[in-house]
Amino acid sequence: MTASPTSPAVAGSLSVAGPPAVAGSFSVAGSFPLAGSRATVPPTATASAWWRDAVVYQVYIRSFVDANGDGIGDLAGIITGLDHLEALGVDAIWLTPCYPSPQLDHGYDVADYFAVDPVYGDLATFDRLVAEARRRSIRVLMDVVPNHCSSEHAWFRAALDAAPGSPERARFYFRDGRGRLGELPPNNWRSVFGGSTWTRVTEADGSPGQWYLHTFSPWQPDFDWSCPDVVAMFRSMLTFWFDRGVEGFRADAVAVVGKAPELPDAPPVPEGTAENDAWAHNPYTVFWPTAHDHWRDWRRLIDDYEAANPGREIVTVSEAYTPDRPDLLLRFVNPEQFHQSFCFDLMLAPWRVDTLRATIEPVEATLSAAGAPLTWTMNNHDTQRAVTRYGRSDAAELSSWTKNNLVYTGTPVDLALGTVRARAAIALVAALPGSLYLFQGEELGLPEVLDLPMGARQDPIFFRTDGREPGRDGCRVPLPWSADPTTSYGFSPATSTATSPATVSPWMPQPGGWGNYSVEQQHDAPESMLALYRSVLSARRACLDPDAGLEWPTSTHPDVLMFHRGDVTVVVNVGADEVMMADVCATAPRLASSRLLLSSSPVHDDPTRLPGNTCCWFASS
Ligand code: NOJ
Ligand code: CA
Repeated sequence: MTASPTSPAVAGSLSVAGPPAVAGSFSVAGSFPLAGSRATVPPTATASAWWRDAVVYQVYIRSFVDANGDGIGDLAGIITGLDHLEALGVDAIWLTPCYPSPQLDHGYDVADYFAVDPVYGDLATFDRLVAEARRRSIRVLMDVVPNHCSSEHAWFRAALDAAPGSPERARFYFRDGRGRLGELPPNNWRSVFGGSTWTRVTEADGSPGQWYLHTFSPWQPDFDWSCPDVVAMFRSMLTFWFDRGVEGFRADAVAVVGKAPELPDAPPVPEGTAENDAWAHNPYTVFWPTAHDHWRDWRRLIDDYEAANPGREIVTVSEAYTPDRPDLLLRFVNPEQFHQSFCFDLMLAPWRVDTLRATIEPVEATLSAAGAPLTWTMNNHDTQRAVTRYGRSDAAELSSWTKNNLVYTGTPVDLALGTVRARAAIALVAALPGSLYLFQGEELGLPEVLDLPMGARQDPIFFRTDGREPGRDGCRVPLPWSADPTTSYGFSPATSTATSPATVSPWMPQPGGWGNYSVEQQHDAPESMLALYRSVLSARRACLDPDAGLEWPTSTHPDVLMFHRGDVTVVVNVGADEVMMADVCATAPRLASSRLLLSSSPVHDDPTRLPGNTCCWFASS
């Protein structure tokens, strides 16, 4: 395993203009106090809720900080990382599931929705985390997994023990098999993680029995939401965590919660469909409409909760991939359902002007016209990291546009190129209206770890496809906090603790050179990715009008993407070669009297040229 042996930092002058603009020139003057003041929690309820333009940081709990030295990240560890997040300038954290779980899908297999997995801590530590975060004006969001639970959940254990047709089985999808002896699955549906969506059980008397449906792995049986028990359990779960101070939820896999009641066979998938993409073509579950009744019910519950608890402003964000269909997003994000829904298209778009614009413009136009907020992200725990994606030799090719975050290309990677593009990408996405979700480690410029040993891999996708698909482990490698390899680069503590006598290996191995990406190494390096993230988030707060939408002046240069956001003009050169700003100004006259606010890469002494793979912000007032 290798990581870049050199520092990931790209020499960059992240410059912010202080002096007034000089007509016709682009000043790149020294420092300017960008750090805007941040609201304190709790907020008062206002027409513009805190989350509309919030920056939310996704904490993948296993891999953030391990406080007790067992090699697995935990809640106490998150508390120690809060100072880093405060300095970064985030408004909230989203915790991936920390509920009791066999961890076969790292928490997305929930065994109990009302507790904390002992490997991560306990409820008292959870409460302490909420309080410590609040002290730093950081809100805490959790992850709710409504489509399925763990096969270790008490309800599923009871269903296995109960008879076909019992109320215990009615909470899930148990069906008789097809074939003379029921030996064939009830239908032809494909699982997201590979293979059939059905697994057969052995009945209490030892005979081969019914089948149960699992959209993901066999350890994740799907709930049947037409069962009132399921509805009631999730209602009390939401309230349970709101009462502990949780300010919202990211809702997992909402696109597959509904199912056509008769569970008919899915039509054949289009020819050439990748193994990992077959499930997405099943019209009898993907975007099946019945689920929306439940999201409306959740929203009523939340609205009532807020009314009963003045000062609370809760947010829900739904996870639904809607390639090229911003209209589908509106089915989720609206005043009666979710407050937000991720706009994933930009994350998956190739690095080229036409595709970037073709993913931003329709989403912005469709959602804004409906008054729905935008929710951007460039990384998450299910997707190859941006530095690697943008470093692919085909990253600027249309052929790389799979529109599915689980379908990767296997082309060679140039990490230096990927890093410089990822720098431009964060400057681009941070300038868009709406909220921004970050995934831990992107602020350090971590690449995907592509060469994890086979024996270290843990993702069910890897196992369910017999290794044909590498899965998502490579973006989940524990974070490097220091350069010290004896503490797993600061991920685990240096000294022994009561519960663990010595630092052990992290649950997923870190590659050599990982310490070069550490927080410690980047902390005081002005050219580092970390410094760029801090500056971009700070500039976003200080310079962008949250109510300003996007305007698109026509760009005459094929490599230049350009938009106005209020008084700020964002110019991205996605090509390798520098571009003369005079050419860009031809179609955006206001640029001629602008001053440079920031640049993702050095503009050296000649701001009349925009280097390749660089994003700049200009202020016209
Ligand atoms: C989406 C989550 O982000 C992913 O990590 C998980 O494996 C599936 N949903 C199943 O819960
Ligand atoms: Ca631990």
